[in-house]
Amino acid sequence: MKVLVIGNGGREHALLWKLKQSPLATELFCAPGNGGTAQMAQNVDIASHDIEKLKHWALEHKIDFTVVGPELPLVLGIVDSFQKVKLPIFGVNQKAAQLEASKVFSKKLLQKYHIPTAEAQIFDSYAQACAYILQATFPLVIKADGLASGKGVRICKNQKEAQSALSDIMEKKILGSSGSQVVIERYLEGEEISYMGFLDGKTFLPLAPSQDHKKALDGDQGLNTGGMGAYSPVPWFDAAWQSKVQNRIVAPLLKALKSEGISFQGLLYIGLLISQDLPYVLEFNVRFGDPEAQVLLFRLQSDLLPVLQAVSQSKLHEVHLKWDDQPAVCVVMVSGGYPQSYQAGYEILGLDNISQGCDVALFHAGTVLRENKVLTQGGRVLNVVAKAPSFEEAIQKAYECVSGIQWPHVFFRKDIGFRVCPNLKSRS
Ligand code: GLY
Repeated sequence: MKVLVIGNGGREHALLWKLKQSPLATELFCAPGNGGTAQMAQNVDIASHDIEKLKHWALEHKIDFTVVGPELPLVLGIVDSFQKVKLPIFGVNQKAAQLEASKVFSKKLLQKYHIPTAEAQIFDSYAQACAYILQATFPLVIKADGLASGKGVRICKNQKEAQSALSDIMEKKILGSSGSQVVIERYLEGEEISYMGFLDGKTFLPLAPSQDHKKALDGDQGLNTGGMGAYSPVPWFDAAWQSKVQNRIVAPLLKALKSEGISFQGLLYIGLLISQDLPYVLEFNVRFGDPEAQVLLFRLQSDLLPVLQAVSQSKLHEVHLKWDDQPAVCVVMVSGGYPQSYQAGYEILGLDNISQGCDVALFHAGTVLRENKVLTQGGRVLNVVAKAPSFEEAIQKAYECVSGIQWPHVFFRKDIGFRVCPNLKSRS
């Protein structure tokens, strides 16, 4: 089969790495890809949001199956567009993508169907939102409605912070039209879990649980990022927890989707917040988490390609996923300055020192291959993933590899996995 992966991040490199192991996949393509995907597939120079061009290219090259990595093409309707011309594709349609595209839409759905989530108010008027925070209880969370690449959520400790967030989002419009509406919700204290599963319209098949580190600095401090590291499994999130989430969240959500006429075939990412022993929905995404995908795909033993096909053919009830019991950890190496401004174009040295195999993988994100050199080309640059019998060993192995890779101003967190490995000392 000729398989096309859409996207250019670490998640897409990990998808390709996994798909390459499938005996069903004969040729692999990635649009637009990065310096890592170029080494295992043919990169196609079409942006992931250019739906028409992608469709024509896929038709022309007789692509048998397309896998969509990021949310934007899904929100723009790539699946609807491919399906119209009978191109098989993995991902949700535009209607289902609203779960991620609009925080207002998903909050209203959660409220309507009494699915546990933080209490919230929705505003499309800056003046009314400002009036509301004058009498609100703090801390609270302000979320811009639309897509914002991880920059749309602000936790506000007091009125001053809330006023500044509202001004940025609704008045100055720093996120563009994504800030036309906001959700203002109660801040829930607790631990976050990335709970993902395949959904084929009827059957939900959960993946192993994972957690990511969204903050830029050690100790989960600093600005929000796309993700500075991740690991799987989450040892305390056991079968009893899974069934609690199934009963309180997944089952009512599936009913809600059915009642609303939303056919969801793809990957459902439920951002859970566990507060006082109960799970709440923080957010929905409609694609694999990044960098959670990197550790999950590294632990997945089943052939991914037939699983993705089963999702798009509503045959998920026939599928069983097999996981490696060993924990996996991913450390994200970024350009110094990220998530704010940073320099790119540096040559990455030391990549050949890493001996990749069944216990270590290197997934590229913001890189480009030029004249046999790998150069930095984005904020999140590389994902170093390691697997071992214990978290302690996996973390050790990942950081050993990280220490062999250099470029000017490289930055990474030194404490990835500290929640599952409390003895871990920050490596600064
Ligand atoms: N790691 C969080 C996300 O992918 O949205």
